[in-house]
Amino acid sequence: MPAKTKTTRATSESRPGPRSPAASARRPSSVRRQARIHSGKAHVAEAATSAGEAGPGLTAPAAPTTDNWPVHPLATPHPAGGGNAVPPQWRADLLDVLITEAQLARRVQELARALTHDYVGRDLTVVALLTGTVVFLADLLRRLALPLRLDFMGVSSYREGTASRELVFTKELRLEVRHRDVLLVDDILDTGRTLLAVKTRLAALGPRSVRACVLLDKPARRVEPVQAEYAGFTVPDVFVVGYGLDFAERYRNLPFVGILRPDLYAR
Ligand code: XMP
Repeated sequence: MPAKTKTTRATSESRPGPRSPAASARRPSSVRRQARIHSGKAHVAEAATSAGEAGPGLTAPAAPTTDNWPVHPLATPHPAGGGNAVPPQWRADLLDVLITEAQLARRVQELARALTHDYVGRDLTVVALLTGTVVFLADLLRRLALPLRLDFMGVSSYREGTASRELVFTKELRLEVRHRDVLLVDDILDTGRTLLAVKTRLAALGPRSVRACVLLDKPARRVEPVQAEYAGFTVPDVFVVGYGLDFAERYRNLPFVGILRPDLYAR
């Protein structure tokens, strides 16, 4: 059975491609309405949710959470709106720039401010998922004005055919998290399978709390009733790369988030 790691997740179910009518029909209609494309640029309607609430059409997270202290309002996701032209060297690969370097920097600063506010006086352990978080994580960590500990988890997905997908943990935590406040960091929340599995696994280790912070949220593809308490940007149902996110291990080094040309993954 072929192993599919998060580092090559582009060929997994998160991979872009024509969606079957059945798959589209499974999406909650209120979530579907959020994603729209305007004049060649991808836009997303302002997310109606405040962080910490279930989104429209979604139920509350199934993963156990053990805290009830408030999430800072700045954590509400921003819509990703495009902006700059694709640099010439990337035009053969990318359709558009979805989130510019400046927008990323501003938003990461806002997230860091919210997290610093919310976690002050707590015993914070940041747990990042390998490998797509590396760029986001490095920027976020340096802006968190808090004492913290850092650890990593690895998740792979094993697939048979095109439908089933089983998540396998390839790297476990090294640090003890019992009775600690854990902040899980991931690059993008897509179907929600990864976040649900990791949150559930962490919760079994007896932390005081487990919250998630993702750079990108793609609610249109959600199949699990899970959400991130902190999210940078809401993105439409397009395959994105850059700022740590890859397609077949490429594009992680782009300083912006771009939309991959569909003909590249349709080949
Ligand atoms: P799920 O579906 O479990 O997946 O929420 C989350 C993981 O899938 C990968 N993923 C993407 N990677 N561009 C990427 O480069 C995308 O548009 C995309 N969507 C999902 C990613 O590894 C994420 O952690």
